[in-house]
Amino acid sequence: MPLPALYLSRMLPPPVMTILKDRFRLTGEPAATPPARGQIMEGLREAQAAICTLTERIDREVLDVAPHLRVIANYAVGYDNIDLEAAKAKGIVVANTPDVLTEATADLTWALLLALARRVPEGHWLVQQGAWTGWEPTQLLGAEVSGKTLGIIGMGRIGQAVARRALGFNMPVLYSSHRAVGQPSQGQSWRRVSLEELLSSSDFISLHVPLTPETHHLIGANELKLMRPTAYLINTARGPIIDEAALVEALREGRLAGAGLDVYEQEPALHAGLRSLTQVVTLPHLGSATLGTRVRMGLVCIENVQAVLEGRPAPNRLY
Ligand code: DGY
Repeated sequence: MPLPALYLSRMLPPPVMTILKDRFRLTGEPAATPPARGQIMEGLREAQAAICTLTERIDREVLDVAPHLRVIANYAVGYDNIDLEAAKAKGIVVANTPDVLTEATADLTWALLLALARRVPEGHWLVQQGAWTGWEPTQLLGAEVSGKTLGIIGMGRIGQAVARRALGFNMPVLYSSHRAVGQPSQGQSWRRVSLEELLSSSDFISLHVPLTPETHHLIGANELKLMRPTAYLINTARGPIIDEAALVEALREGRLAGAGLDVYEQEPALHAGLRSLTQVVTLPHLGSATLGTRVRMGLVCIENVQAVLEGRPAPNRLY
């Protein structure tokens, strides 16, 4: 029996590549960097299944050249890169990779929060550049974390995992979400509040909503005005949830203490204003970037693809 034709947009970690090459005929040669739009279309032309990442825009025009396509497994929990309506209209199943990246993304959110509050990048460079002349009582003074209020916008799997980690820092948790979530068991208390109350009452605010037309620029000039000048904003969700121009203005004017960003409005481009500010910590979209997580994401994609090709429901079908 010929192997099913699969379009793989990017090179995945070696254990995943081994399985893919064993079970599928790849319709192109995936690279580590994003394919051009023409390459995506070429790869999809004869594919029965596709595994894509968040940087590939899969819209109606792309789907129009893929007459055999039955399933797209997105190598991400977010799926704003795919036109779900167009896929649905063509009877193409779309699946994502929830759960397996929750803990890694929550860990990275805390890495950003702590690095920002305690000025870790500034300290690192001071030492690395040989500019450190010794301990000083007033050097690189950061913000307290323990006991401060953590505000979480979007209390899904990742938001809750971030909230659970606040227990060790004795931080009360406020959250804003479409629906209330159950209280955690270990003596923590999470309080659901309006977005406005969260913004004005939190010391650290972390974003965990998906990118949709409703959440585009959810944090804009008006929302930033509600935040405390001592507050920090952290984004490991999607860049366009924040209006970056408004964020730069708020930071420049001292209306916000700092921002920890893993995602950007125009990835991989960085807003020029974010480059020159010391109270900003920037990472290159590393939320799920651990080997174990990236392998598990690949296995989940394979599971979803195989389910559809074998006539079974995809475990992580989006509609
Ligand atoms: C996701 O899964 O949506 C992340 O942004 C990429 O790992």
